[in-house]
Order: sequence, then structure tokens, then C-alpha cells
Amino acid sequence: MTPDTEVSPKPDIDALARSHDLDDLRARLDPLDFMAGWNKHEPSLWKEPRTDYKPMVWRWAAAKAGLDAAGRLIDAEQAERRNLFMVNPIEGNHYATLRTLVSAYQMLLPGEKARTHRHSPNALRLVLDVADNCYTIVDGVRIDMEPGDVLLTPGMSWHGHGNEGSAPCYWIDYLDVPLVQLLEPMFLDLWEGLQPAADNTRDSPYVFTMASMQAQLAQASPDTYGRTRILLDAPSMPTTALFMEKLIGGQNGQLLRSTENQIFTVVSGAGESRVGAERLSWSRGDVFVAPGWQAVQHHPAEDAMLFCVSDLPVHEKLGFHRMRVEA
Ligand SMILES: [Fe+2]
Repeated sequence: MTPDTEVSPKPDIDALARSHDLDDLRARLDPLDFMAGWNKHEPSLWKEPRTDYKPMVWRWAAAKAGLDAAGRLIDAEQAERRNLFMVNPIEGNHYATLRTLVSAYQMLLPGEKARTHRHSPNALRLVLDVADNCYTIVDGVRIDMEPGDVLLTPGMSWHGHGNEGSAPCYWIDYLDVPLVQLLEPMFLDLWEGLQPAADNTRDSPYVFTMASMQAQLAQASPDTYGRTRILLDAPSMPTTALFMEKLIGGQNGQLLRSTENQIFTVVSGAGESRVGAERLSWSRGDVFVAPGWQAVQHHPAEDAMLFCVSDLPVHEKLGFHRMRVEA
């Protein structure tokens, strides 16, 4: 078979051999799509991790006002998902919250359904405010949402949401879409409407209830870095580690630097955190982020609980993870 177009011109080997100086050689290499390493515009390696992503905080109060306004202006069917992505304000970025992760506030009005779909990215959500009869259907199993739930919809599991209750329900989504976009194994399938539920349970490996997480936290002792936190047992989520951490009012944590990207959500309490050169204040429902290698230290003003979504397993599996305590 003959290709329609030639991808690369035939190199003129003799012309390359006749190059009389480096500029001349470069001029002959450029059209062949070779870049001479000695002419690199930018270094490709550096001494320690660096990132354009910024430490940021997004306010729940603003997100709720925005979602409530959107609730008047667009229905869930039209929107596909009525959500507000937390976009890190760096040049050229229109989507990602951090390099590998994206997060969004989402709302469903009474009577609405968010139709079922499935995709290779892994997703999970933390339920913020829900009254009654709001649910996710994962692979044909209905899981009713309750405040504080962490609900998993692993890659390629069918998932949709419904609200048959009396009040809007709000949650926060976390997905590894930016990582999948980077590696490019993106797949998406759409279901016609909402998948019917063959079963209804809250006894599922895909839901962690607030009561169970609090009970586990009450038994937890501080780790080697002084953090009292539990790792949610979620083997279905290969790219993310999920932690619930308990902070005691007035007790500052250690200043920790890790290669992982971390999204923190304030489940309860208030305080501020140092992330890199920034000081981010937070209260319930707010989301703040620590890009990789930015030192993080929490300063809770009162007892608080933080939910952390991290890409730590990716760093660990690839052998890239490093962590240290800063003075
Ligand atoms: Fe989805």
C-alpha cells in the first residue's frame, strides 16, 4: 500500500555530511524534526519538582450560589452534569484542578436525573448537603446518598444520579481525568437515560459512610508524621488514595513536602493551611489544593475533619514518591 502523503521528507544525507558549522548543521536538521540537544531552548531536567499549578482555595458559599443560579437557568438534562469545575488559574489550563486531578461542585434539583454513563477515568464524590431520596446508581445498584458519604464510581463502571427528594442535593466530584488525558486511554460510553436499579443498598464497597469513617478515626493513632488519619480501603481506585484526617483545634501539624498532588475538602471545622508560599483559610465545604512538592501545614482554629484525595498511588507505583518533613 502506498501512503497518500509522505510523513517525512527523504533526508539528504550528503547535505548533512557537508555541514560546515553548527548553525549550518542545525539548519539542515530542523526540517528533519531533529532538535540538537546542545541547542535546547529549555532544560528538560531540573533538580527538584517544580509546578505551574498554584495552591488555591475554592469557597463552598460561592459554589452553592453559582449552582443555585444555574439551577434556575439550565436543567440537568441540558447540562449533562450541572457542575462547577475548580480550574487552577494557570496559563493554558481550562479544566484541571491539579496536574492529574480535577474537582467540581455538583447539584441536582428535586425530580432531576443525571443520566448514566461510564468512562475510563476513575471518579468519586463527597456528599455535602442532601435531604432525602437522592442516590447514585453504580452498575445497576442504587446507593442512597447521605451527608458525608464518600461514594466511588471506578473507571468503566456505569453511573448516574437521581434526586427524588424534596430538596436540592450537593456534592463534590473528584476525577483523575487530567491523568487519563495525559496518558490518553480515554473511553466514554453513554446510556440512554438513567440505568434502572436492580438492587438498593448502602452495604457496598463503593460507599464509606460518615459514621463508619468517624468510628475508624476514633480508633486511629497518629502516623509517623503526626497525622491522625485513615486510608479508605478502595482497591477499585488504582490512581487515588483517599484519606479522612482529624485535626485538633489549635494543634498545628508538621510542615510536610511530598511529590503527590493533594485536594483537601473541609468536612467540618475551620482553620487555615500553609501551602507553599500561600496561607489558605478554610471552613466547611471549601476545597483547597496542594500541588506536588509544595510544603503543607494545617493550622486548625477548631476541631476539624479534612478529606484528602491524592494521586499518591501513581507516584508510589512508578517509584517517584518522595516525602520529607520541613524544618
Ligand atoms: Fe461520570
